[in-house]
Amino acid sequence: MKNAVTFIGLMSGTSMDSIDTVAVTFSNKSLDLLGSYTHSIPAKVKADILTLCAPGLDNVQLLAETDHRLGELFAEASLALMAQLSLSSKDIVAIGSHGQTIRHQPPGHKPGFSLQIGNPNQIAALTGCSVIADFRRKDMAYGGQGAPLVPAFHREIFPHPSKTRVIVNIGGISNITILEASGGCYGFDTGPGNILLDVWCQKHTNKNYDHEGRWGATGKCSDALLSQLKTHNFFARKGPKSTGREDFNLEWLEEQTRLFEIAPADIQATLALYTAETIAQSIADLAQPTDEIFVCGGGILNLELIRNLNESLLNRMLPAIQSTGNIGLDPNWVEACAFAWLAKQRIDMQPGNLPAVTGASQQTVLGCIYLP
Ligand SMILES: Nc1ncnc2c1ncn2[C@@H]1O[C@H](COP(=O)(O)OP(=O)(O)O)[C@@H](O)[C@H]1O
Ligand SMILES: [Mg+2]
Repeated sequence: MKNAVTFIGLMSGTSMDSIDTVAVTFSNKSLDLLGSYTHSIPAKVKADILTLCAPGLDNVQLLAETDHRLGELFAEASLALMAQLSLSSKDIVAIGSHGQTIRHQPPGHKPGFSLQIGNPNQIAALTGCSVIADFRRKDMAYGGQGAPLVPAFHREIFPHPSKTRVIVNIGGISNITILEASGGCYGFDTGPGNILLDVWCQKHTNKNYDHEGRWGATGKCSDALLSQLKTHNFFARKGPKSTGREDFNLEWLEEQTRLFEIAPADIQATLALYTAETIAQSIADLAQPTDEIFVCGGGILNLELIRNLNESLLNRMLPAIQSTGNIGLDPNWVEACAFAWLAKQRIDMQPGNLPAVTGASQQTVLGCIYLP
C-alpha cells in the first residue's frame, strides 16, 4: 500500500438514481478527479430499499439481505471504475462508502440515529481494498445530526479568500454550505431537493425523474398550494437541522394536495418553485452578503428548477447560480468526491465533521475501517 495514492468515493443518495463512483487523488487542499462511473441500481433492489425506508415497517430479514446485496453492488461499482482506469487494489488507499440511508432520525424527542446499509465487509472482500464506512453515527454519538457531512469537504476545496460563497447541493434532499471569506463555515439541510419532483413525476408519468424539468415547465404554479407546502414545520426550525424521506415523501405530498383541485403538471410546476423558494429563503435568512452561489448535485440538470431558483434568488437580491464546474469540480461528482475525502480524513486520523453544521459537541474522526 506504500505507493497507493488513489481514493474511491461511493455515493448513493436519497434519490436512489444510481451509485456515483469516483477515483480521486488529493494534494494540498485540491483534488484530481481521475475518473467517474455510474452504476445502476436494479429495480428490485430499489423497491426493497423503498420498503425499508417506510417508517413503521420493520423487516429485519429484508434489511439484512438488502445490506448484503448493496455491498455487492458497491463492490461492482468500485471494480468497474478500477477496470476503466486500469487501477488495481494496490493503487487504492481506501474506498469511502456512504452507504444507502434507509432511516434518518435526527436527535430530538427520540434518540437520534441514522442507518446506512451496503455491507462494507462485502465491499472489502470483493475489491481487495480497505473500506471506510459508517460516517454518520460517530457525529451523532456526540449529539450531532450526523448530516450534512459534505460541508467540511466544501470548506476544504471551494473557499475564496475575499468572497463569501454558498454551495448548494441539490440531491434528493438539498443542503447548503456557507463559506465565509473569513474562513467561517456553516450549513444545513434546506429541505427537499429533487425528492418531491421525482415522486410526483414517477406517479404521474411513470418516469424516474422529470427530464430537464420539461413536464413541470408545461404547468402553472399554484400560489395557494405553494403557501400550504411552505407551512411544513421543518422550515420553522433553526439549524443545525437535517431531513430525509421521513419528512418529505409522496404520502405527505398527497395529503397536502388533497385540499386542492390542481392538474398534476401544475403540481409539478408548483413543486419546482417550492423547492427553489425554500433553498433561496434559506440563503436569504443568513442575512449577510453572499457574493457567489454554486450548485452541484443532480438538481442542476432540472432546468425548470434552476430557472425558478435564479428567479427566487433575484427576488431576494442574491446572485444567480453558477455550476461548481466553474470552480473546478463537475457538479455530478461532488458528493462522491466528498466521501473519498472523508475516507482520506479517516486514514489521516483527521476530523470529518463540523460542529457548527451538525451540532455535535466536538470535532471528531468519522468512519470505521474494514480491511480486506
Ligand atoms: N437530466 C435531468 N433532468 C432533470 N433532473 C435530473 C436529471 N438528471 C438527474 N436529475 C435529478 O437528479 C437526481 C439525482 O441527483 P443526485 O445528486 O444523484 O441525488 P442523490 O444524492 O439524492 O442521489 C435525480 O433523481 C433527478 O431528480
Ligand atoms: Mg444519486
